[in-house]
Amino acid sequence: MNQDIIQQIREKNDIVDIVGERIPLVARGKNFFGVCPFHDDSNPSLCVSREKQIYTCFSCHATGNVFTFLMNYEHKEFPEVVKELGDRVGILVSSVSSRKTNNKYNDWYQIYDLANKYYQNNLMTSAGKSAREYLQNRGITASLIKEFELGWSLEERSPLTDLLVKKGYSYDLLNQVGLSANDYDIFHQRLMFPLHDLSGKVIGFSGRIIRDSDQNKYLNTKETDLFKKGKLLYHYHIAKDAARIKKCVLIMEGFMDIIRASSIDVKNTVATMGTALTRDHVQDIKRLSNTIILCFDGDEAGEKATLSAGELFLENGIETKVIRLPREDDPDSYILHYGKDSFLRLIEQAEYYSDYKIKALRSHVNFDSSEEKANYIHQVLEQMVKIEDPIRLEIVLKDLAKNYEIGYNTLEKSFQELKAKQGKKQEIVPRKQTTSEKEDKYTKASEAILYYMIYHPWVISETEKAHLVFPNEIYRQLENEIVFFYHQNGSFSIADFYTYLASKEELLTVLSRILMREDLAEDPSKEELFDHFQVMMQYCDRQKAKKIQKKLEEYADPLEQARIAQEIVQLRIGENKNGRRD
Ligand code: CTP
Ligand code: MN
Repeated sequence: MNQDIIQQIREKNDIVDIVGERIPLVARGKNFFGVCPFHDDSNPSLCVSREKQIYTCFSCHATGNVFTFLMNYEHKEFPEVVKELGDRVGILVSSVSSRKTNNKYNDWYQIYDLANKYYQNNLMTSAGKSAREYLQNRGITASLIKEFELGWSLEERSPLTDLLVKKGYSYDLLNQVGLSANDYDIFHQRLMFPLHDLSGKVIGFSGRIIRDSDQNKYLNTKETDLFKKGKLLYHYHIAKDAARIKKCVLIMEGFMDIIRASSIDVKNTVATMGTALTRDHVQDIKRLSNTIILCFDGDEAGEKATLSAGELFLENGIETKVIRLPREDDPDSYILHYGKDSFLRLIEQAEYYSDYKIKALRSHVNFDSSEEKANYIHQVLEQMVKIEDPIRLEIVLKDLAKNYEIGYNTLEKSFQELKAKQGKKQEIVPRKQTTSEKEDKYTKASEAILYYMIYHPWVISETEKAHLVFPNEIYRQLENEIVFFYHQNGSFSIADFYTYLASKEELLTVLSRILMREDLAEDPSKEELFDHFQVMMQYCDRQKAKKIQKKLEEYADPLEQARIAQEIVQLRIGENKNGRRD
């Protein structure tokens, strides 16, 4: 691909817009901050710079430009991202190279795509009649069938395997991707739901039986590199856009809930595969929206799931909202029974998780027992410590005071005590971590020089003239790359330098750490620069002296020793000269 075009596309796509469309950003000073999507976090550690057109996470050190952001965030290859961003700003990128991404799993994706089409086609044939009837009885329309790419697997032993083998795929590969076992199809007479990854590629299937049977209701593709049940979020690739528009996302339990919700045009939904929510889920879900609503089944299992998911999100710094359905309903049946408006009202009236939890706790308390009552109030206070919203705190405390006839001040005092105790508990960990070892002066000098090279091209020539040798391999590499990139382009753009470094992750990490340094002068004088040079030269001389000293110890010959000693003296003189500025 043409480098100029890539550069143009990068320049026209402001990184703040691209990141901001995906993660909520807040402006602070020259930069924008958001919660980093690349690690488990709830603090705004991701810094996006409009000026430099790069992002950097202070916590996990993820870093890069607009291209790398989309590659990592949307799990796409470079050519695909360039093409998309090109489309966005009206620059056409010839699609020749964008098809040819050499992904290890290309064959897998092709197989899943073929299987998906095959299953969908079966549903429309005479073999799919009973499944069509089943769907019709459940009120799943033709357009929903199409939207969710529902399909049907046949009764015969190996129609899909045979088809794919004819297309040139090996039995071995078909077993690996989880569509065949011992050369037979895995799925028979099941309603097929394709499972997509976050970016919308099919990575597996789930098949539902449609008649009463002692078989498992759903059979899933076995876990593979691409499909992990505990990570999968059904409908995520569609929910991405819908959640942005509706400014919230609903989490449900099952496929049918999602499909039913879509029928009333509620598409900002994701579902786990009936499993408990995992940390991986939380990471992916919190990228969708700031408002997350738990909408699990109305039964006791759904209540338990709501409580544990609510806590898990709180641990990740997010207070979700909660919808609780009547005991006998799941979202699917609720929407069928009560209709669209009723469901939309539930979304509107969703309450905060802690309010819900406080209520849920209350339902089990015998208020005639002063012990149970006190215990309950303590649990409520403990919950409030996790929230940190002073207004809501006051509301809750006032309610407690009124409902249980306890002095507001007593409650407030207990709350503060609890908070202080928990605060102390939490603080121990980060304190320990922040006692970073003191940076040595050579590291500082190296980083300062590299920093200045990037921002002030005249420093590049000075560095070349001085024949500096960086003490550490990674700095040496970075220096070489900077010099090469500068000479190649005749100028230096940080964001393009990121594209240039592309896959050299270690260098990228060091680069962004250096760029984020705040202890360096914006515009260094020559003197300041040469100070750093001297530190580095001293280091080089020291290293040389050390080496020679070692040689000295190895030599027994006094004459040779005298000669080497002289060499060291010379070096020391040089070192002192370097120490003086002229
Ligand atoms: N599930 C599964 N294996 C099972 C049962 C359930 O993988 N044996 C997963 C499926 O992803 C399912 C989800 O758990 O969508 C929720 O289960 P359930 O509520 O029983 O299924 P629904 O999607 O509601 O399907 P239906 O209404 O058709 O029973
Ligand atoms: Mn269900």
